[in-house]
Amino acid sequence: MIKIVILGAGNVAKHLYTAFCNNKSAEVVQCYNRKGLQLSSDQKENTIIKDLSSIKEADIYILAVSDDAISEVSALLPFRNRLVVHTSGSVPMDTIDNAHRKGVFYPLQTFSKDKSVDFSKVPFCLEAVNTSDLKILKNLASTLSEKTYDISSEQRNILHVSAVFVNNFTNYLFSVGNDICKEHKIPFEILHPLILETAEKATKINPDLAQTGPAIRNDSETIKRHSKIVTNPLQQEIYLTLTKAIQSKYGKKL
Ligand SMILES: NC(=O)c1ccc[n+]([C@@H]2O[C@H](COP(=O)([O-])OP(=O)(O)OC[C@H]3O[C@@H](n4cnc5c(N)ncnc54)[C@H](OP(=O)(O)O)[C@@H]3O)[C@@H](O)[C@H]2O)c1
Repeated sequence: MIKIVILGAGNVAKHLYTAFCNNKSAEVVQCYNRKGLQLSSDQKENTIIKDLSSIKEADIYILAVSDDAISEVSALLPFRNRLVVHTSGSVPMDTIDNAHRKGVFYPLQTFSKDKSVDFSKVPFCLEAVNTSDLKILKNLASTLSEKTYDISSEQRNILHVSAVFVNNFTNYLFSVGNDICKEHKIPFEILHPLILETAEKATKINPDLAQTGPAIRNDSETIKRHSKIVTNPLQQEIYLTLTKAIQSKYGKKL
């Protein structure tokens, strides 16, 4: 049984807690967060601490805190030479305080508190200073997921930039689509099948081959009509910038 302490009470901490609670090979022995919050409604009060001085012994300490707090919280841990990992996509492993055996346990997925996630499909990007610690992390990740990868801090940062494009920016564009529908009182759900097909297709064929729409077709009259409908100046700028980007990538002219 791998003993875990989770630090933090945000999206990732809560999802990992729930996943480990349903896991026979790992046990969350304690959770730390500075407000003393439960990570799930059935979590026992005596497993939550808001003072690091009473932290229990464990095999792995998972710092699921904001990127900027990783260094600070790791430096506050009142022990030395234990395995301390963070869950960030972009923070170098070295950011963890030198008192500890360092590692990274990065689940490459988007986590929000009200949406459950199937961990068996979540790729875990793992890194550790020691090979024996990497093995421990692989064992732990394999209890949750079919996919584990040895990824250096440098590679993880690159993956994270890519993830910002495919998830954060795409989701922002979904929200713009939603705003435009709302403004014109059209149900956004009409676009749901398109959203799903877009994501599905990008995983089945090269995204370059999946590009469709007025920009790649060079339908300039349609583009003009669209830019009149998009009245919000920032959204209009995004529409024209992305149109230009598509046309320059595929050799068309605006
Ligand atoms: N959300 C995702 O989709 C996702 C996916 C993969 C990886 N990650 C990574 O996972 C980590 C956590 O992300 P998240 O989305 O779970 O963040 P989050 O929901 O914003 O939660 C952040 C947690 O960090 C705690 N925290 C912040 N500063 C602290 C400090 N100085 N001392 C102690 N605790 C502090 C917060 O506590 P308070 O409430 O007290 O401020 C909160 O519990 C980040 O490294 C992120 O890059 C996130």
